[in-house]
Amino acid sequence: MNLLQNIDETRIPRHLAIIMDGNGRWAKQQGLLRALGHESGTKSVKVIIESCATLGIEFLTLYAFSTENWNRPKLEVETLMKVLINSLKKELTTLQKNNIKLNAIGNLEKLPKSALRELLDVIDKTKNNTQMTLTLALSYGSREELVNVVRNICTKVKNNIISLDDIDDSIINEHLYTRNLPDVDLLIRTSGEHRISNFLLWQIAYAELYFTDILWPDFKEQDLYEAIISYQKRERRFGKTSEQIK
Ligand code: IPE
Ligand code: IPE
Ligand code: MG
Repeated sequence: MNLLQNIDETRIPRHLAIIMDGNGRWAKQQGLLRALGHESGTKSVKVIIESCATLGIEFLTLYAFSTENWNRPKLEVETLMKVLINSLKKELTTLQKNNIKLNAIGNLEKLPKSALRELLDVIDKTKNNTQMTLTLALSYGSREELVNVVRNICTKVKNNIISLDDIDDSIINEHLYTRNLPDVDLLIRTSGEHRISNFLLWQIAYAELYFTDILWPDFKEQDLYEAIISYQKRERRFGKTSEQIK
């Protein structure tokens, strides 16, 4: 059965974020090297990006590499960077065809120069696309992001650019990497792990969380639809009572 028919088109999450986890375990299950798990994961990335754009999701944010992932073996980090460069090269046409704008968040200066160049090139070439904004979280860590926010706001207070009393939710938002993105509505994590792993801590304050045991290279359209159907069954109360929502 195609689950697409069970999706309410009027209640599509505006901002979907995904922790794409399980490439290594997928490879191990198949008796393959971890590198092939990452390679295979890019196929799911393509499928999910295209289905999100078709569904009318406005913002899709993918956790591709965390600040902590720099601590993996050097060879694996190199592989991940190569996989990133190749898929940026390969998927430019997918982005153009689907009218998708590429964006990136994280400490991008830490990326190898060749990867950064490719990334900035695709960002530039897709900057006028309007169907969906695809944000890649690369060398991203929420704590590092928040430390920078605090530093930047404190500097502005010190230099009398803003006053202490000006600091509120929106000032903090404006200093995050995600300043141009709305709050996350739905966060999906694959591979059976039930944790956030330093992803978008501020931005998921009221996100609906969805965990699945499926490993990322196996995660395809129908799995995405299942997550969205689960999201649509929930009542988002934002602190209010059920009666107030109805
Ligand atoms: C996700 O898969 C990709 C990245 C974290 C970059 P993993 O490489 O974490 O796969 P597992 O968790 O070891 O299975
Ligand atoms: C989180 O996955 C980071 C990405 C998916 C890019 P990890 O596999 O690095 O997370 P932990 O270490 O298991 O928490
Ligand atoms: Mg993992």
